[in-house]
Amino acid sequence: MADLVGAVDHGTTTTRFMVFDQGGRVVASAQVEHRQILPRPGWVEHDPAEIWDNTVLVIEKVMADTGLTWRDLAALGVANQRETTVVWNRRTGRPYGNAVVWQDTRTDALVSTIAADDRGRLVRHRSGLPPATYFSAGKLRWILDNVPGVREDAAKGDAVFGTLDTWLLWNLTGGVDGGVHVTDVTNASRTMLMDLETLDWDEELLAVFGVPRSMLPEIRSSSVASGYGRTTGTGPLQGPVPLTAVLGDQQAAMVGQLCLAPGDAKNTYGTGNFLLLNTGTSLVRSDNGLLTTVCYRFGDQPPVYALEGSIAVTGSAVQWLRDQMGIIRDTAEIEALAREVPDTGGVCFVPAFSGLFAPYWRADARGAVVGLTRFSDRRHLARAALEAICHQSRDVAEAMEKDSGVRLNILKVDGGVTANDLCMQIQADLLGVPVSRPVVAETTALGAAYAAGLAVGHWASTADLHDNWHEGRRWLPGCSEEHRAAARDEWHRAVARTLNWVEM
Ligand code: G3P
Repeated sequence: MADLVGAVDHGTTTTRFMVFDQGGRVVASAQVEHRQILPRPGWVEHDPAEIWDNTVLVIEKVMADTGLTWRDLAALGVANQRETTVVWNRRTGRPYGNAVVWQDTRTDALVSTIAADDRGRLVRHRSGLPPATYFSAGKLRWILDNVPGVREDAAKGDAVFGTLDTWLLWNLTGGVDGGVHVTDVTNASRTMLMDLETLDWDEELLAVFGVPRSMLPEIRSSSVASGYGRTTGTGPLQGPVPLTAVLGDQQAAMVGQLCLAPGDAKNTYGTGNFLLLNTGTSLVRSDNGLLTTVCYRFGDQPPVYALEGSIAVTGSAVQWLRDQMGIIRDTAEIEALAREVPDTGGVCFVPAFSGLFAPYWRADARGAVVGLTRFSDRRHLARAALEAICHQSRDVAEAMEKDSGVRLNILKVDGGVTANDLCMQIQADLLGVPVSRPVVAETTALGAAYAAGLAVGHWASTADLHDNWHEGRRWLPGCSEEHRAAARDEWHRAVARTLNWVEM
């Protein structure tokens, strides 16, 4: 009897496969990192073939380690890094080049031109997104303009576009032998090509970016009983498991955190940070630099929307201190290093490596470390990196309160960085509200599993899930209002120094 649900969670740095039981507990998991390809300043790429190979690897490892077979899985869900853009040939199965990652800023001239005229208003209104390098449409246009053969093959119907969900689904369902070319509403809502109201590709947006509709996948709900297809006998599960849920990873984390009612919010600390607020079936447009996005759509029910504050660089600033600066060997070391000093000694680090995302949306910003004195050392920089993660989250929390009128009285958190106790304490201090992490911090994979299991009746309704959420840890704010105000003022002065760095 199939009493487990599987989830592929493909993120910006790792791909994992997890299996959950009825109580939402982790039965097994495996994960592997993929390469971050950085060919030029501002460019970030991934190898789609490596990502598919890693997906096969982690699924095979979990199945081999546990002795489970495809028959044990009632359904399979997929959650993925959003916006990252792949174009491949549906006849050969080969990508035309590396995927252009959401953090990549190569399209800044194109999107800035669009942002400056009437097209900018159209894009904002129809897609809910400000024209920015972050989203897929500009990346797809760049590939069409710069990669030889793509435009011609697209005209023949051979070159197709997908975000990573689409690429993985196509491969999981057979690839060149009948793979499905589909995406879900949450991923489609990050392309800048979908109308948020009709939930379909929009002809005017396609014209703005010069993208042929024939390249685009079919858009489906995030959780569908009829499914996205089945895995194949020749694939890593060696049998037909129904693929019944697909969600962008941040939306999946909303489901995993059970943020299913209007006013529920969570903040995920990964490569970047993503604070989402469920706004129910109303589409709330932001006046304060947030995105309007689809939170999820279950079956034929009306779509549920969210306001989102996306921060490009948080956990990846810690990786940068490890990989490029060499001040730590392992990202987990940052906490002990930062604890060696009581404060940053006046050092402020703004990791605007991809410009600044929400709520600033400034592609012309570049990273800065300010306030250095002869006294400053790597411990202060480590602590400043943790503070930067928390200040950026406070920036988007403030914008969210202004847009929604909903006052955060607790912040639900998840993601890798939440293992850093000091960082979470700083977050509670800077926000002035408690921060709460569930027992299962792998909420992204869990959310994809929940959505997949709900589609096949493995869980009868979302009411069945609420007993599965248990608080694992809570941090209470501990600093004075004066201290908080001074820290915020210093942060804003540092942010101001990163702007206008690149001439657009
Ligand atoms: O929008 C980008 C986001 O989906 C990436 O999330 O967790 O892979 O860094 P993560």
